[in-house]
Amino acid sequence: MPKKFYITTPVYYVNDVPHIGHTYTTVAADILARWHRALGEETFFLTGTDEHGAKIEAKAKEMKLEPKQYADKIAAAFKDAWKELNISNDGFSRTTDQIHMKAVQKALQFMYDKGDIYLGKYEGLYCRDCEQYKNERDLVNGECPDHKVAPEKMSEECYTFKLSKYQDELLEKIKKDELQILPLNRKNEIVSFYEKEGLADVSFSRKNVNWGIPIPWDKSHTVYVWADAFLNYLTGLGWDGSAGKSPKFWPASVQLMSKDILRVHSTIWPAMLLSLQLSLPEKIFVHGYFQINGQKMGKSLGNVIAPQDLIKKYGVDASRYLIMSAAAFGHDGDISWEKFDDKYNADLANGLGNLAARVSNLLEINNLELKLSGFARSGIARKTGSDKKLAKAYQANMQAFKFDEALKILREKLRDGDEILSDTKPWKSKDKKEIENILEPVAQDILNVASLLKPFMPTVSEKIIKQFSAKQIKKGESLFPRI
Ligand code: MSP
Repeated sequence: MPKKFYITTPVYYVNDVPHIGHTYTTVAADILARWHRALGEETFFLTGTDEHGAKIEAKAKEMKLEPKQYADKIAAAFKDAWKELNISNDGFSRTTDQIHMKAVQKALQFMYDKGDIYLGKYEGLYCRDCEQYKNERDLVNGECPDHKVAPEKMSEECYTFKLSKYQDELLEKIKKDELQILPLNRKNEIVSFYEKEGLADVSFSRKNVNWGIPIPWDKSHTVYVWADAFLNYLTGLGWDGSAGKSPKFWPASVQLMSKDILRVHSTIWPAMLLSLQLSLPEKIFVHGYFQINGQKMGKSLGNVIAPQDLIKKYGVDASRYLIMSAAAFGHDGDISWEKFDDKYNADLANGLGNLAARVSNLLEINNLELKLSGFARSGIARKTGSDKKLAKAYQANMQAFKFDEALKILREKLRDGDEILSDTKPWKSKDKKEIENILEPVAQDILNVASLLKPFMPTVSEKIIKQFSAKQIKKGESLFPRI
């Protein structure tokens, strides 16, 4: 039986079209999915859109559209963007899908019947931009620190989830890495949140929000948008809402997200799973947050970068590469067009592109034929001759989510190739055998690097692999024209 690998991104809110932040998570998930597929694992990669709740309701009204009409438009924009970026997702969850909504109702009914949901009252603060209940101590100068708006005061009868009931069991599981939260500093944050603040019961229904899934036993309420959204990770696999009935691929191997939504993912979400008698995800990996030129990205600042902007300038594969190498995975990153330009020119135009062009050109004009050995799969050497040491170091970094390190060792390999050429100057030699002896190992390195780059840059890598596996290697078109 092949190993299973299930990876998810958050379902993104449809209050806005995709930007580089969503793109970061989605491309990272795609790289992991492609890599695990290449390792021969049975892989499922799920992404999607979060379409209910007060925020979307208000946004649709502002756009003078029915919420569903509006959500259809933005969900399509997400699908299109991921297609353009060559994202290989196996599923796309929309929280307005019928199968999802039915399952959510079934699941909540089970939790209600079991006594895990009871009628209560919520009196307190609510940030509509987070779609989250807030405590005074969460605020900075009376505002939500993430959205810089004062939360609204709420006083509402609501069906309430007994989150507190699961506190001890969850803390234990998180401490023991049965639900592993990575990087370690994020785990520590969550453990300390459990220990210092603890879990209070949470409202799971809204009386004053129409745009949501009706509570099955009381249609005057709709389901709290997070309770609805979390279950996409199961319904996206075809789950029908039955407690204790795990769909194929569950539990998730990795759930990717940024720090903004870690707390809810390590409290409410796993508690719902325990209530529904399902396993917890194996890992949550929290990557960093992008700022642009030191500022939060936002429409009002006019500094939003859309994936299409990147593609237009650098092409699909280079955009994927640039996003992934903008920061150490797990650390915040400050991005800018200047940084992207510099990185593009240094690593791709002058790096990989230039080396591949020089070597293939020399091979072609000297009419040399090489027999290089390829990698059978990403990272697994088929023959000795391929670089096992390189593959091993790469594997270790990929396993540890150190994408930037994985890319760095590939860049170093290419730099070595550049150095060999500068030192030996094969273009000055008339001796064909000598030229071949110089070029062969460098060409082999290029082929190896291209194989390992496949999850990051699927199309360009294939091009290089095809070019350098040919009997007569020829100089092809420029891979990365200089900006
Ligand atoms: N709908 C909820 C998630 C529900 S999951 C059950 C949501 N949506 S969101 O559209 O706001 O997406 C948040 C996620 O998008 C972050 O956790 C992160 O994965 C990604 N990013 C959005 N902006 C980002 C940056 N500026 N930088 C990096 N990633 C960020 O929250």
